[in-house]
Formats: sequence, C-alpha cells, structure tokens
Amino acid sequence: MAEWTKRNLLGLEELDKDEIGIILDAAVSFKEISERPIKKVPTLRGKTVVMLFFEPSTRTRTSFELAAKRLSADTVSFNAAVSSLNKGETLKDTAKNIEAMKVDAVVVRHSSAGTPHILAQVLEPRVINAGDGAHEHPTQGLLDIFTIKEKKAKIEGLNVSIVGDILHSRVARSNIWGLTKLGANVTVCGPPTFIPPGIENMGAHPGPARSGRVKVTNNIEEAIAEADVINVLRIQTERQKEKFFPSVREYIMNFGIDLDRLKKCAKKDVLIMHPGPINRGIELTPEVADGPYSVILDQVTNGVAVRMAVLFLILGAK
Ligand code: CP
Repeated sequence: MAEWTKRNLLGLEELDKDEIGIILDAAVSFKEISERPIKKVPTLRGKTVVMLFFEPSTRTRTSFELAAKRLSADTVSFNAAVSSLNKGETLKDTAKNIEAMKVDAVVVRHSSAGTPHILAQVLEPRVINAGDGAHEHPTQGLLDIFTIKEKKAKIEGLNVSIVGDILHSRVARSNIWGLTKLGANVTVCGPPTFIPPGIENMGAHPGPARSGRVKVTNNIEEAIAEADVINVLRIQTERQKEKFFPSVREYIMNFGIDLDRLKKCAKKDVLIMHPGPINRGIELTPEVADGPYSVILDQVTNGVAVRMAVLFLILGAK
C-alpha cells in the first residue's frame, strides 16, 4: 500500500500517481468537516502554520488559513507589504527569523519560480508551495483534479482542455503534471505567443501520441469540442512585459468562451473551470462563469478540503 513520505509539497511534478491519490482520498474525508455546524477537529492542535505570501491572493491564502484553523492549528499571516523586507532584509533572513519562532510549516507564495524549493533547503519547518512564479501551484492542481473526479467519477481517459495564457500559468503546469500522471489527456489552447515551446513534451508521458499526454492547438472550437473539462485561464498581465496579442477584442473573438460557443461546440456535460481571479468578459463571459456548466465555486469549496489534506499529511499527523 502506498504511504505518504514527502516532507514538503513543492510541486506535482515530484509526486507519483499513488501520492496524488493519497491526498485526494484524504481530502474526501476532510470535506465533510466543512459541512458540520462546528467546523473544527483537534488533528493539528499545537502546530503553527505561517502564511508567507509575497504576492496577492484571495482564494489560496484564505483557504489555507481556514484549512489550518479547521484542523486546530494556529496560523500567522506574514504581510510582505509592511514587513522588514522594505528595510532591505533578504528573503532568506526573513524566513530564518520566522523559523526561529519555532513554527511547524510555512505556506509560501512568491513571484520567483523556485523560491519554495530554496526555502525547503534551508528551513527546518515544512514548506508548502502556494504558487511560485509561472512554475507550479500544486494545491490548485490538486483541487482542480479533486473537483473533476468528484463531478466525473474518474480522471483516466478524460479530455481536459486548458485555454488561455498557458505561458505564464503555474496552474496549467500543475494541472498538466497531475492530470497526465492520472491518465487524462490534456490539450492546451491559446494564441501561439501564449504556448510555451516544447509543452507537448511535458507531463507524465511526453511525446506526440495521445493517451496521458499534452496536445497543442490554436483552434478554440477544436479544444472545446473534444473536452470533458475546460479549464479557462486568466491573461496574467502582471507577468507580461511585452504585448502577446494584438488587442483584447481580438483575443475575445478567437479564444473567449461564451454560451454561443459552448452551445455550438461543447459536449452537453462539459465542466467549465477557472482558478480565479476571473476577468469577466475577457476569457469567459459572466453567463458562462455563473452558468450551468460552471464548477468554479465548487473548486473554491474543494480547495479547503484539499489544503486540509495537505496540511494533515505534511505535518505528519498519524
Ligand atoms: N487560484 C488562486 O491562486 O487564486 P488566488 O490568487 O486568489 O490565491
């Protein structure tokens, strides 16, 4: 039987199929706790978790805090904007000082890819990656996979289309690693400037064939038509120093998801996902975001359960 042996959670690239399965199974049990009138269990009493967020966040930070609190851990939120980083303190010194306060885990978000990996090498507390640059966002990948499995009852053999700004997306990378390891077929779709070169060689089974692999298309109708699940991504203007497409209007025409496009091309039971935050009216219309195909708020609900599972496993609870 597979066992959980990882000290940290840095990315889905480094987890195997069984380890992903352990987290998903644990999350099923933890989801029920958030449905109770008293949403708290003593599992992590006495543990301290610090949120080290160097980039903005609504969903990830709040749901990690709720997850830790529902497991009875103490939480502290580090606010980079009013911290001594502004007096020139380094990231490593900041993290070592927080370690010196005897914390058990740090949840790290940073604009530079690899920051959680560097901290994991120098810190005794456990490190959980809450998004590092355009590299990985493992708990988002896990909650996306959890939501797909909850709605479709399987992952293997499903076609998942990821549409939009793939180039700057850590969500796309974690989804590709996790989904292909579990046997889904991933298609990425967007303007050629948003498709990283060689992405078809990413994932658990690199190469040109179909099963459990990554396909690239610039044709939105093809990406919609074959999909059991469409995961729509935001254009990350904050990570773009140059112009990647001629105009927003043209982007909407070529890649925006609206009800007409879904009615024309999509399977009747397609799921529409989005990691948030949504740019309504650009990558998808409000009618789609709030419509019958959307599971966007289910993703957010499931994020708490998945993060409870991750904290439980990482903090070594029996
Ligand atoms: N999905 C996601 O990471 O959202 P936040 O940036 O609000 O945490």
